[in-house]
Amino acid sequence: MASLSSAQYRSYSSNSFRQSSSNGQRHNHRLLSFCSPIPRRSPPVVLCLQQSQGNSRPNVVLMQDGAVATPVNLAQKKEETVKKLEDGLLSSSGISTEELKEAAGFDVNENESSVSITVVGASGDLAKKKIFPALFALYYEGCLPKHFTVFGYARSKMTDAELRNMVSKTLTCRIDQRENCGEKIDQFLKRCFYHSGQYDSQEHFAALDKKLKEHEGGRESNRLFYLSIPPNIFIDAVKCASSSASAASGWTRVIVEKPFGRDSESSAALTKALKQYLTEDQIFRIDHYLGKELVENLSVLRFSNLIFEPLWSRQYIRNVQLIFSEDFGTEGRGGYFDNYGIIRDIMQNHLLQILALFAMETPVSLDAEDIRNEKVKVLRSMRTLRLEDVVIGQYKSHTRGGVTHPGYTDDKTVPKDSVTPTFAAAALFIDNPRWDGVPFLMKAGKALHSKGAEIRVQFRHVPGNLYNRNIGTDLDQATNELVIRVQPDEAIYLKINNKVPGLGMRLDRSNLNLLYSTRYSKEIPDAYERLLLDAIEGERRLFIRSDELDAAWSLFTPVLKELEEKRTIPEYYPYGSRGPVGAHYLAARYKVRWGDLGIEQ
Ligand code: NDP
Ligand code: BG6
Repeated sequence: MASLSSAQYRSYSSNSFRQSSSNGQRHNHRLLSFCSPIPRRSPPVVLCLQQSQGNSRPNVVLMQDGAVATPVNLAQKKEETVKKLEDGLLSSSGISTEELKEAAGFDVNENESSVSITVVGASGDLAKKKIFPALFALYYEGCLPKHFTVFGYARSKMTDAELRNMVSKTLTCRIDQRENCGEKIDQFLKRCFYHSGQYDSQEHFAALDKKLKEHEGGRESNRLFYLSIPPNIFIDAVKCASSSASAASGWTRVIVEKPFGRDSESSAALTKALKQYLTEDQIFRIDHYLGKELVENLSVLRFSNLIFEPLWSRQYIRNVQLIFSEDFGTEGRGGYFDNYGIIRDIMQNHLLQILALFAMETPVSLDAEDIRNEKVKVLRSMRTLRLEDVVIGQYKSHTRGGVTHPGYTDDKTVPKDSVTPTFAAAALFIDNPRWDGVPFLMKAGKALHSKGAEIRVQFRHVPGNLYNRNIGTDLDQATNELVIRVQPDEAIYLKINNKVPGLGMRLDRSNLNLLYSTRYSKEIPDAYERLLLDAIEGERRLFIRSDELDAAWSLFTPVLKELEEKRTIPEYYPYGSRGPVGAHYLAARYKVRWGDLGIEQ
């Protein structure tokens, strides 16, 4: 498939729209990047000149505040040249107008490229719940290029109008409650179309290609396929999309949803099969946790605050906890879930990705490959998970307040004797100089008492603490803890010890709290928005590279096999409880107390 770099892509997208500068004022600039106020790919830029594709002349200035502007003299020069071109003053030498435009500093592709986004599996749950709403939010924010089209593709028979009707039910005007939302929805829906076809039919994809071409109207075409389908049909769809519906001129990219296999072998086989039709840089393996605001913020917190980085090692950190919980069961997704279980569904990807970002060394730059290089080093330094370091559980039916919640195996799509874990806790270790001996504890469960995801960093005790007498015997109560609450109520808070005001000397624990909802009025974008935009822009930083995936699977595959071969019986826990007690014993073995279970969290 043809593929262009993101730099090339950016050069055709000269939208004009409003952008905030650091002083809060809004300016109109001609932008190369669709809607990123700060250059997304590079570390802070003070002032630099960006080159236009295929043109040695600088034509864009990146301002200190991240705004991008065309220098006035160059813009004027261009205008003059255009005028001359239009007046025929420059077109008498046998050189084409396009060549002259290019020579004069123009990007000949300006406004002439298109982006088509095909949601494969458009009739499904994820498409309705996440993908179409995220695309609309990007459209609303002015982040999509001028010439874009969205196509839904699935086997279900639907007309364009039926697709629009289906999609319209899940689009919301949540973004800052700004005006004209209804109008924007209508405009967006007009750009949405549907094509019904089989996932393994070259002919049906060729028919899609024909429709895409009509919408592209002869412009350079760039195509993004989002595989929102069950994994057993990924390869068929990729094969057909690549051979019958690839972009003829621009790039073709494919977003692949998890699960990426169910162990090392199947994952390697999937990668191998995908690579028959796509190059690695065309494959965007999505882990939507990497698109969450607070996960994005992890590196900012660590690398741009002097106070954290020096503490970020075994010297000061006692343990790190990565906790995921949902207060509902697998309702509606039991069929999928039973084949995977919570370790594959949450730990091997979402929590492990956060761990890798948390623990990596400082990357050389913020470029995708530099970050992914550091993440993969962490994963490869990790000890393979052992069975004795894992606790598994499964929720059972529970009645509370007259309401009966079903057990996992009450789901009709789940076998009655299933031992698939819906809860797991695990202790992992990174055998490198920074993290030697520090337990990284993971805990993930469905049908628990609360919903949330957080990172807890528990620091060591203060040596020879002068206030031990005031603290009492439980020194754990006095250690500092940094909590990064990914969701809900995004927050970063640090637990510190302080004196209770008054004449006595009584110590208290308080939180230095950055609660996003009070600090920022802007609503936090959904992870899928960020990731879709990145895929359109060709930014791979938040997508998983194949070697990361291999390393992640090799940590978990042996234990998953052992659990399955032995048919290990999970510890049953009531729906809505705090999960199996085994998780406490596991933590206690490493002298850890789960931070989410304290009275004051
Ligand atoms: P669905 O089960 O809803 O499937 C999506 C579409 O694929 C269906 O509407 C159906 O469309 C088609 N399809 C379903 N089963 C088959 C089959 N056996 N053979 C051929 N086509 C089939 O999936 P989701 O939308 O829930 O998820 C899509 C992908 O995203 C999956 O890989 C899933 O694991 C992943 N994912 C989903 C999440 C979610 O919250 N739903 C979260 C994270 C990842 P039609 O019949 O019209 O062709
Ligand atoms: C998905 C899992 O990847 O993430 C689901 O397959 C889980 O089981 C979901 O419910 C959680 O995502 P979020 O963004 O709602 O926390």
